[in-house]
Amino acid sequence: MKMTTNIKRRKLLKYTAIGIAGAVTYPCWAKTEGFVSVNRPSAGFSPDVEIELTMNTADVAILSGEKTHVWKVTGKVLTGPATALDNNEGTYLAPTLRFKKGQKIRLILNNNLPAQSILHWHGLHVPSNMDGNPMYAINHGETYIYEFEILNRAGTYWFHAHTHGATARQVYSGLAGLFIVSDEQEQALNLPDDSCDVPLVIQDRSFDGQNQLAYSGHMMQRMQGFLGDQILVNGRPDFVLPVATRAYRLRFLNGSNSRIYKLAWDDGTPITVLGVDGGLLESPEQHAYVMLAPGQRLEVWMDFSERALGTELTLRSLPFTSASHGGMGMGMMGGRGMRGGMMGGMMSVSTLPSGSDYPLMKIRVAKKEQGHNTLPKTLTPITELQLKNAANPTKPKTIAMSMKHMSAQLNGRSYAMDDIQPDEIIPVNSLQLIEFDNGFDGGMHGMMMAMPHPMHLHGEQFQIVKREVNAGSSDNYASVSGGFINKGWQDTVLVMPGEKVTILKPFNDFKGLFMYHCHNLEHEDMGMMRDFLIK
Ligand code: C2O
Ligand code: CU
Ligand code: CU
Repeated sequence: MKMTTNIKRRKLLKYTAIGIAGAVTYPCWAKTEGFVSVNRPSAGFSPDVEIELTMNTADVAILSGEKTHVWKVTGKVLTGPATALDNNEGTYLAPTLRFKKGQKIRLILNNNLPAQSILHWHGLHVPSNMDGNPMYAINHGETYIYEFEILNRAGTYWFHAHTHGATARQVYSGLAGLFIVSDEQEQALNLPDDSCDVPLVIQDRSFDGQNQLAYSGHMMQRMQGFLGDQILVNGRPDFVLPVATRAYRLRFLNGSNSRIYKLAWDDGTPITVLGVDGGLLESPEQHAYVMLAPGQRLEVWMDFSERALGTELTLRSLPFTSASHGGMGMGMMGGRGMRGGMMGGMMSVSTLPSGSDYPLMKIRVAKKEQGHNTLPKTLTPITELQLKNAANPTKPKTIAMSMKHMSAQLNGRSYAMDDIQPDEIIPVNSLQLIEFDNGFDGGMHGMMMAMPHPMHLHGEQFQIVKREVNAGSSDNYASVSGGFINKGWQDTVLVMPGEKVTILKPFNDFKGLFMYHCHNLEHEDMGMMRDFLIK
């Protein structure tokens, strides 16, 4: 294993301006006894915040009775404020990290797992060799040192394992956490903070009779993506958030492997959206429901000041249909589509089918408290990317998703390390018009599975230009389309069957490899992932 990794790392050097150490290891750099670092900290880099993160096995109490064996990241602040890290102790969640825009950070990652792994900073604009490409996976006993400046605007970013062929299982085991960035613009808004700024990580898991996480590589589970039998919020089942009678900022992350949520308050209160993947919108938006696909984040404003003590509110996922009538659904299912019950029943993928109606968490109004509860009319300014500034304003780069016979592809190719094709080379400092095509023209559809794909691009955040859906898919599309937030900065966009989504994406500052892939983690591991080479 070690040999292979090192050969891959060495190969990768040809793509990166600042190479990492390759086959040579530097024992002296590891902070923790017993770990061997594969790269060096750079001499001229003095971090404002330095954190050591160790990936380890652990047993945590999730259900009553036996503890659950998980993979847990635990951190320690070496330099900088203690508030930069919350270990989320007692849960499988990785630490919540909090930084400010402009800070220089060093993250020292130790791997004490019985497997290779590497962490990726989802949504962050960092150099290619700091991005956690699977080529940088480290073995048990090794350390990877990340150093970068926080260039992103304030927002709810996150991180997770990105190990070749094992991302789904590793994230499922616990290797994912939040990476929250703040900046002055955001702080000037005086949004609810401290205990009224609540991160909520939504995931689904299945447990066996011994309270252990159940995950199978079963074919249907891979094709559809893993669907757990129960919902966990912040690593807890039946999650209840106690709140005070004042306004809150709720930050949701869909950290599930494949489950898509259609979020709504069960009393019909509209969802007030403050922000998405790449931070705050220009102004709040209200929706009856909001779609949240794997990898996406959503910031919500909720004011409890008019609610009586002791009252409860439930956040639900509402029913929706995601099949395409133009496609074949799951092979033999034809136009009846893939709506949950049938999938669940027939394939026994999950007792909680995708697109069914179920509760996610409860909120209980637990105490009286005075707050400043005025929702700002404007949030933070967003510069709209201009089509005329794109390198290819009339020739969008197409990324077409397809799934057939146990393979998941982008533009007819599955993931391969170190396999850059000519159409995957992008000039640095260019703005690109890109379209995600999920069977929009219906062309090869007859043989393909019609599924939604949450498409994610590494590196800088992008903006959505337009969404188009073909006539055959419009009925099902109507059950989700009111819940898309199309404004603001995004790094993951849900592309429904029969849909084409066009985006503008900047590729500034950094050369090297940056991935693009489906964030249904089973699809990603099955090959629905590629690299762009920025040069
Ligand atoms: Cu969150 Cu390459 O992924
Ligand atoms: Cu990412
Ligand atoms: Cu997918």
